[in-house]
Amino acid sequence: MQSAGPDTLAPGGSATRRVDIDLNRLNLIGIVTPNAPRSLIGDEYRIIKRPLLSNVQGKGASPIDDANLIMITSSLPGEGKSFSSINLAISMAMELDHTVLLIDADVSRPSVLNILGLPPQKGLMDVLTDPHTQMKDVLLKTNIEKLSLLPAGTPHPRATELLASDAMKNLLEELAERYSDRIVIFDSPPLLVTTESRVLATHMGQIVIVVESNKTARAAVKQALATIESCPVKLMLLNKAVQSGDGAYGYGYGYGYGYGHVPKGQ
Ligand SMILES: Nc1ncnc2c1ncn2[C@@H]1O[C@H](COP(=O)(O)OP(=O)(O)O)[C@@H](O)[C@H]1O
Ligand SMILES: [Mg+2]
Repeated sequence: MQSAGPDTLAPGGSATRRVDIDLNRLNLIGIVTPNAPRSLIGDEYRIIKRPLLSNVQGKGASPIDDANLIMITSSLPGEGKSFSSINLAISMAMELDHTVLLIDADVSRPSVLNILGLPPQKGLMDVLTDPHTQMKDVLLKTNIEKLSLLPAGTPHPRATELLASDAMKNLLEELAERYSDRIVIFDSPPLLVTTESRVLATHMGQIVIVVESNKTARAAVKQALATIESCPVKLMLLNKAVQSGDGAYGYGYGYGYGYGHVPKGQ
């Protein structure tokens, strides 16, 4: 369900629209929700977000530029980037002092709105291709108080290429400047399918690489890591790991990868 009409006026007079996410539905599909009692998924994401937040707050081993810009990527499609991006974004937005913007930057296979049960809307592609559309025109506020969304927007034949465009570079600069107090999570294309996501990676403070447990070949992971050497912080998120005897899926950081450092020979 989507509430109609603008409810707030952003500076400059443009309206920021508000959408309502059905939190009970999210809960049923295994996504963290603020209203749910303690859940396994909630507990897992409490652990997963902690090192990322420490870096944002400058409490990591060394200060990191643009630590609030966090890319979620993987080697290949289907490893759980969108699932992980949404869970991380909601989990972080539930913290008292963090405002979160979730951007659907996997523009050739967008799925954030769909997973959240919302209809397609204008978004990133429109900002990048239409000089009259500004980010504040397409941002969506949600009923999760500290969570805003930037949808992928109108499909475009050269969608992924636009991620490496000057327009995207300008948008990232605008984000870094105007939204420096927010955490921005980018649900991004896989690294081994498009070269544009590697360009996007060069602007990020932190990168989370989702690895589908027991599926992604080690060589693919290694190759994906090699494409993003320049980013200071890389974390591996082992997804769909069977953790317990009941066959439940789980999450966790795997392979002992740590901050700014990926051991050789993996
Ligand atoms: N930890 C998980 N537990 C259960 N289902 C998952 C998990 N991670 C991903 N999925 C499911 O796997 C499929 C692919 O995940 P998705 O996040 O869409 O991948 P990607 O964005 O990397 O292409 C989706 O159907 C998603 O719901
Ligand atoms: Mg996806």
